[in-house]
Amino acid sequence: MKIHHIGYAVKNIEKSIEVFKRLEYDIGEITRDDLRKVNICFVEKDGYVVELISPIDKNEESVVDGVLKKSGNGPYHICYIVSNMEDGIRELKEKKFKPIIMPQEACAIDGKKVCFLFNKDIGLIEIVEE
Ligand code: NI
Repeated sequence: MKIHHIGYAVKNIEKSIEVFKRLEYDIGEITRDDLRKVNICFVEKDGYVVELISPIDKNEESVVDGVLKKSGNGPYHICYIVSNMEDGIRELKEKKFKPIIMPQEACAIDGKKVCFLFNKDIGLIEIVEE
């Protein structure tokens, strides 16, 4: 599985974009994901892609609230590319990962199907079907 991106939870997406700009990353568009209640922005440097994810609204429950509360700003998942979602999930189950949500379309990645899986020794990973 090749790596697609590294996901960063951030409290304030604009402020985090400013920092990645200073670190000379190329900055993508901010996409609003109403399903997950987050804003998402992909930034890239030297072929490495970082996904910034922040809550749309402090008063609405988002998918990054838990990680932000627990660990603050920072990386929390690596996303890997799979050619087939069902096969990818089956293979990762054999490697002791447990899907934590049903596969869903991710509007920030052109509507591609993604799934999050958990392993107790390394935490969260994401897979994207390409
Ligand atoms: Ni991601």
